[in-house]
Amino acid sequence: MKNKSLVAINQYSKEDILRILETAAHFEEHPNRKLLEGKVAATLFFEPSTRTRLSFETAVIRLGGQVIGFQDASTTSSSKGETLKDTIRMVSNYADLIIMRHHLEGAARYASEITNVPVINAGDGANQHPSQTLLDLYSIQKTQRKDLQDLAITIVGDLKYGRTVHSLIVGTAHFRPTFHFVAPKELQMPDEQKNYCDALHIPYTEHTDFTEDIINQTDVLYMTRVQRERFTDTEEYERVKNVYILKNDMLRHSRKNLRILHPLPRVNEIAYDVDENEKAYYFRQACNGLFTRQAIICEVLGINHLI
Ligand code: CP
Repeated sequence: MKNKSLVAINQYSKEDILRILETAAHFEEHPNRKLLEGKVAATLFFEPSTRTRLSFETAVIRLGGQVIGFQDASTTSSSKGETLKDTIRMVSNYADLIIMRHHLEGAARYASEITNVPVINAGDGANQHPSQTLLDLYSIQKTQRKDLQDLAITIVGDLKYGRTVHSLIVGTAHFRPTFHFVAPKELQMPDEQKNYCDALHIPYTEHTDFTEDIINQTDVLYMTRVQRERFTDTEEYERVKNVYILKNDMLRHSRKNLRILHPLPRVNEIAYDVDENEKAYYFRQACNGLFTRQAIICEVLGINHLI
């Protein structure tokens, strides 16, 4: 990488993560700082998004910068056959920062290798979503403990294709978690992530049933949707799409400190009655994305928020 791009959460040490979360806390108190005056950020979204794009764009605007970009690649010259390489080269002429979501795994890393402009990975296929992990960690820090240590984290749903899950394993690994993985056989956690846990002696259990017993041993319940867009076999998607639905009565004996997170969008894996439960945290989690992304932008651009 030629610059301070953020393409994978593995790039950040425990100290880096804690520093960024501290900066996010600063921006939660002071979201309107003119730290990006005169700077332009390009948001290049080759895949759909609501939260990631809008929170990054809000983050730039609240910091006094300006935004260019697209949310639908079919309106750009990539639909005429322009390569990603040429697109990145062109945009690098106009912007000080590139925030990119792409369906191909490794696309953000590739982009970061062909430009001097910092690139933030806003999701690359089923690979990683590092800014989501930082906002997840900020949410866990706010609801559990500042040092993030020794938490029981249960991750439910599409563990095979869920890029937020893959990044979360790496991001939380610094803090001695215990994991419970709940997924149907077809969508179990890939060997890559399990080997990563094994190498770091991080304990995990695997389950195909989503039971109250597992919920009751949990501090952070991380629900995910089945990623329809990653399936090549529609029948397989139909078979697994409704496999787990969290209902309010499943939470009756859960820990007092339990919080339910979900990167969103929700399809139907969390029943609407859960939204009223004080342990539901997913909408506030999405709000935390704004402050966390302000902190990430400052980190990659080398801007000191304290001056
Ligand atoms: N969590 C997340 O990535 O949401 P969007 O797809 O809406 O950006």
